Amino acid sequence: MPKKYNVVVVGIGAVGGEMVKILDQRKFPINQLKILARSSREEEIGGRTYQVTAAAEEELAGADFVFFAGTEGASGASATYLPAAKKAGAVSIDNGGDFRMDPEVPLVIPEVNPEDISKHKGMIASPNCSTIQMLVAVAPIYRESPVRRLIASTYQAVSGTGRDAIRELREQTPVALSGEGEVICSIYPHQIAFNVLPQIGSFKEYGFTTEEWKMDRETRKMLHDDSMRITCTAVRVPVFYGHAESVYIETEDVIPVERVREILSAAPGVILVDDPDNGEYPMPIDAAGKDAVYVGRIRQDPHVDNGLHLWVVSDNIRKGAALNVIQIAERMIADGLV
Ligand SMILES: NC(=O)c1ccc[n+]([C@@H]2O[C@H](COP(=O)([O-])OP(=O)(O)OC[C@H]3O[C@@H](n4cnc5c(N)ncnc54)[C@H](OP(=O)(O)O)[C@@H]3O)[C@@H](O)[C@H]2O)c1
Repeated sequence: MPKKYNVVVVGIGAVGGEMVKILDQRKFPINQLKILARSSREEEIGGRTYQVTAAAEEELAGADFVFFAGTEGASGASATYLPAAKKAGAVSIDNGGDFRMDPEVPLVIPEVNPEDISKHKGMIASPNCSTIQMLVAVAPIYRESPVRRLIASTYQAVSGTGRDAIRELREQTPVALSGEGEVICSIYPHQIAFNVLPQIGSFKEYGFTTEEWKMDRETRKMLHDDSMRITCTAVRVPVFYGHAESVYIETEDVIPVERVREILSAAPGVILVDDPDNGEYPMPIDAAGKDAVYVGRIRQDPHVDNGLHLWVVSDNIRKGAALNVIQIAERMIADGLV
């Protein structure tokens, strides 16, 4: 009989909730599922009621997989419970950013660098949401001809900031629409309803934000290519689910647009939606709740022979977070690594 695993999900916000749904939808081989958060309670997810237990080190005993979907930082979920997960002999897979650039921790998108999974020492990191969808689309082109320059601009949904940001957009919208009453901003520094914020994270080196640096550094780590020149502008938009990205790349060799379409049509996890004459291109509203990375508006730069433009859209909570983690675990099972 195929082996079943003891799974612990730590954190049950936007990503953790989706993870529990996906485990069920994909019939992940579970022996026992435990859900941990800061407080114990019952949670209804996907029409089923789940018991949530207050996180504590002893709750990780006997775990095979620990999927972290908790808040980041020194007192966050993965920093706090990784030692206990390692002691239990579990493989931890983390949605958060705390360990992504640790040289001891593989950073993995199964469609991009599955070969890095086996290098783990008890912890594997899942990349930032905007990096995941960008690379699922760009890596197959990179394999045809290395990308030397990449310029991305993102249009990121509020769910990328978690459940409290979803609530903030929901609460601000009717107030801003009516023009009556005070719009309250507690998660974002400015009103997000009917607005666009050119800041995701905090400002760091050269005036780029933490989110923009993540897209740069995580991409170079996963492609094992430090020579790639990447630059990004990450923008928050008043959309609930689904990030969109305008991605411009320059490849070493010229790749005709028709060949790019062929490559992306065959690429795992990618669906082409590229018929602009009939108004067909990827949009967050269509990608929400789905698993694929949608690519359209593929066109050559009229001024640069090796320059290509792509428009990339995906559900940031699914492929950008929860699904990617579960796909890493599924890949480990398929490859006999657990
Ligand atoms: N949202 C995205 O698109 C996205 C994409 C990629 C990666 N991520 C990462 O995924 C993680 C979760 O994000 P989210 O958007 O789901 O956040 P969220 O909606 O704010 O939920 C956070 C969850 O973490 C739990 N938690 C916080 N500190 C904890 C601790 N010390 N021990 C146990 N549980 C703890 C909270 O427990 P309570 O419910 O009890 O408060 C809550 O359930 C973050 O690291 C985030 O950076 C998110």
